[in-house]
Amino acid sequence: MTLADVGTVPFLDLQPVTEAVREEVLARWSTILDECSFIHGEPVRSFEKRFAAVCGATHGIGTANGTDALHLTLRALGIGAGDEVVVPTNTFVATAEAVVLAGARPSFADVDPSTLMLTPASIEAAVTPRTRAVVVVHLYGQMGDLTAVRATTERLGLLLVEDAAQAHDARWEGRPAGSFGVAGCFSFYPGKNLGAFGDAGAVVTSDDWLADRIRSMRDHGRAQGSHHEHVLVGSNSRLDSLQAAVLDAKLRFLPAWNEERRRLFDVYREGIDPQAARPVDELPGSLGVRHLAVVRVRDRDDVRRALAERGVGTGIHYPTPCHLLPPYTQYATGPLPVAEAAAREVVSLPLYPGMRREQAERVAALVNDCARPGGAP
Ligand SMILES: Cc1ncc(COP(=O)(O)O)c(C=O)c1O
Repeated sequence: MTLADVGTVPFLDLQPVTEAVREEVLARWSTILDECSFIHGEPVRSFEKRFAAVCGATHGIGTANGTDALHLTLRALGIGAGDEVVVPTNTFVATAEAVVLAGARPSFADVDPSTLMLTPASIEAAVTPRTRAVVVVHLYGQMGDLTAVRATTERLGLLLVEDAAQAHDARWEGRPAGSFGVAGCFSFYPGKNLGAFGDAGAVVTSDDWLADRIRSMRDHGRAQGSHHEHVLVGSNSRLDSLQAAVLDAKLRFLPAWNEERRRLFDVYREGIDPQAARPVDELPGSLGVRHLAVVRVRDRDDVRRALAERGVGTGIHYPTPCHLLPPYTQYATGPLPVAEAAAREVVSLPLYPGMRREQAERVAALVNDCARPGGAP
């Protein structure tokens, strides 16, 4: 088979991971339908417990989505009006959105030019006397230097929250994402490394007080075990049994799927000329999970167009840094040049469990054809 025979390569194909659990999910859903236990069911408790263990945390609290996981965590920590929260500007908008939903102000930080992650220096540059917390984002499924980030937040007396929406079972120096901050917030949006058949999310934490508060707040602020006693202003952000059953069924595949993603990324790393398209660096202490395969190119839009003409789907994560998005410019304090340059250059290549090695080889060869030789930023 020649590379030309491989055909088109979509940016993402969820069929392989869906098929892996189809029978098991249908059987579990049948039980849920028999019992009509749609909310607070056994699958929710089972998944929460097993997922917390994967993250090295004592508690798992399912939520309706990852945005709520972040927003409820910040609110449960008492962060609100008058407070500032440092967030990297090169993230999915939900990180900043959660801060604003909590009533606080995002303080946008720039990032390291090689890893595109927060660093102690970039955090400190964004801290003001009003700063209460830092949300560190494990962007693309990789981990920044969490030891240094945590030392910085501890020294400055700030809370550390992890936005681990893209980093299920990623590790920094052997420790899992979600175990560094006071809480780790996850999304199970279908395209994530661990994805539901709809929207879902979770918070993991080893802080009993915080776990109790978030558990209450995701369920209208109910007192534990009570239906009519509301002790906090909460929300309706429960993980439902149908989605929990999907996640519980998928969880045992997560290590193998992550390994597959890493192997496919290695094909890119070996096959793509770094002078034409430069992968975003990963630190030696990070065992990332390659949620996205991101390279940097000049003339990004031309490269994407040329790849599309050759049948290769791509994405951009993200085209506009948060501080330049219209609802968030009011929080911007000045240019953030590293993130702004990256936003013009990043392109995400196809990567998903079930993608074949030959497909990655074809994409790598086409990237070399389409990207300007010697033009990598
Ligand atoms: C970095 C990051 N934070 C937060 C979220 C929000 O998660 P959700 O879409 O489940 O609300 C996402 C996912 O979309 C994300 O990638």
